[in-house]
This record gives sequence, C-alpha cells and structure tokens, in this order.
Amino acid sequence: MQYKVIKNVPNHVKLQDKGTSKLWPEFMFHDLVSNANWLKLFELFPEVQFSLMANDEIIGVANCLPYFWDKSFEELPERGWDWVLEKGINDKLNNIKANTLNGLQIAVNKEHQGKGISSVIVKEMISIARDNGFKYVTIPVRPSLKSKYPLIPIDNYIKWERKDGLPFDPWLRVHVRLGGKIIKPCHKAMYIPGTIAEWEEWTKMKFFETGDYVIQGALKPVKINLEKDIGEYIEPNVWVLHEVD
Ligand SMILES: CC(C)(COP(=O)(O)OP(=O)(O)OC[C@H]1O[C@@H](n2cnc3c(N)ncnc32)[C@H](O)[C@@H]1OP(=O)(O)O)[C@@H](O)C(=O)NCCC(=O)NCCS
Repeated sequence: MQYKVIKNVPNHVKLQDKGTSKLWPEFMFHDLVSNANWLKLFELFPEVQFSLMANDEIIGVANCLPYFWDKSFEELPERGWDWVLEKGINDKLNNIKANTLNGLQIAVNKEHQGKGISSVIVKEMISIARDNGFKYVTIPVRPSLKSKYPLIPIDNYIKWERKDGLPFDPWLRVHVRLGGKIIKPCHKAMYIPGTIAEWEEWTKMKFFETGDYVIQGALKPVKINLEKDIGEYIEPNVWVLHEVD
C-alpha cells in the first residue's frame, strides 16, 4: 500500500468521524488536561500533527509536541501524558527551545489495524524529530492489551515477555522492535474524574455502591465514591524512548 503523510490537519476529528467503531473508550475523552489543551496543539504545533493517507482515505493519525528536557529520562514524571502536554505548551509560550519530540497519540483506523501501519507512523515521528535536530522521541505509551488485565500492576505487566523475548503487549512490542526502550511506568499519566451520573453515561453501567470497578477499556479499576458523588480514574502508561539515529 502506498502511504502519503499529510501535515497541519485537525486529524483527530477526521478519524473519529469516519463512522468506524470508536478507537477510544468514551471516558478517555474526559481527561481534564487534554480537554483544556488539545486544540492548542493545532494552533501552536500544526507541523507535528499528521495523518497517513492511502487511496484518499485517512488510515492513521498522529499528534506530537516538542518540549525541553535536560535530565535523565529515568526522571520523566509520573504524570506522563498530562505532564508532557502541559510542559510542551508552557515551553512554547515561554520561548524555551525544545530539544525532544513527544508522541501523544497514534491511532490506526480499525479497518486497517494489524497491517503494520503503526510502525510507519512511529518511524515518521522519528523522522520529524531528526528534521528538527532532536535526538530523542518520548512516548507515554498506552499498552493496548493492558485493559484485559486491569488487576495486574502495570509494573508487572510491562515485564511480561513472549518466548522470543519481546514484550507480551503488542503495542509495546511495536516500539521495542523499532528500537524503543521501555523506561518505566508513569502511574498517573491521565486523571479522569466525573460525577457518578457521568461515569454511568460513559460506561453504560450502574453504580449502586462505593468501591473499585473493572470497566471495559480501563487499564486499572475506577474508584467510585457515591457519598462524594465522584468517580476517579488514574490511567497508568509507560514511558518509551526512541533514540534518533
Ligand atoms: C495500538 C495501535 C496504534 C496499533 O496499530 P496497528 O497498525 O494495528 O499495529 P500493527 O499492525 O503494527 O500491529 C502490532 C502488533 O499488534 C498485533 N495486533 C494488532 N491488533 C491486535 C488486536 N486487536 N489484538 C491483539 N494483537 C493485535 C499485531 O498482530 C502485531 O503483533 P506482532 O508483533 O505479533 O506482529 C492500534 O491498535 C490503535 O490505533 N489502537 C487504538 C488507539 C490506541 O490505543 N493507540 C495507542 C495509544 S497512543
């Protein structure tokens, strides 16, 4: 298949509008930091928002932002995704020169998953970093099969390996195959609070008592507190580092 990279497009909207099954569970659209900042990506960094087209169809999208980091990557923060979105925007607004590219989202149209397209997108991110003179790409990765094992700590899950020594998780495997290094989990990568009514709407479930609930698509249980009328989901991700050759 021939791919074309299209830059400067609000690609997140286009892929969601394609009418295919949703790529993200509904609650993922309610991260506070994301909702306060997502559109700024397209104002401040249009050149690093891109789509992959094949036969006039958008088959994948990617969103990135540059930021400045001069410490060890082992010290990347626990607030992973939320932190890096705020950091990149603040660096830009304060004229701090970025030296690292961060991948925020890679999504492949359902009809085209399993064809290796995500690797094309990761390679394109690395190539954008190279064009900008950056040495590294970081990604707070959302392991794609973790939601099937919500009770297993992410620290254990990321160590699961197949017989060939590659990660059990297919999305982590893509990164490792491309030379990516698993740095460490970021346990508070996203914070998604909502009222009980909102969580019932997002999950199509009913919550009759306070407790921890396993919810489809969530990487760990969601804490529901009826007395305080709040449900809280703190998503764990994994910091992955790609070195630009
Ligand atoms: C994660 C995602 C980007 C991977 O994209 P992709 O182009 O389908 O990935 P690939 O075709 O390279 O497949 C990668 C591996 O996953 C496997 N895979 C693909 N779909 C799978 C599924 N539904 N279940 C299990 N494994 C699957 C492939 O077989 C491959 O494994 P291999 O190493 O044994 O060859 C894509 O599934 C997606 O967009 N998911 C929804 C959004 C998301 O979670 N994005 C990532 C967080 S930013």
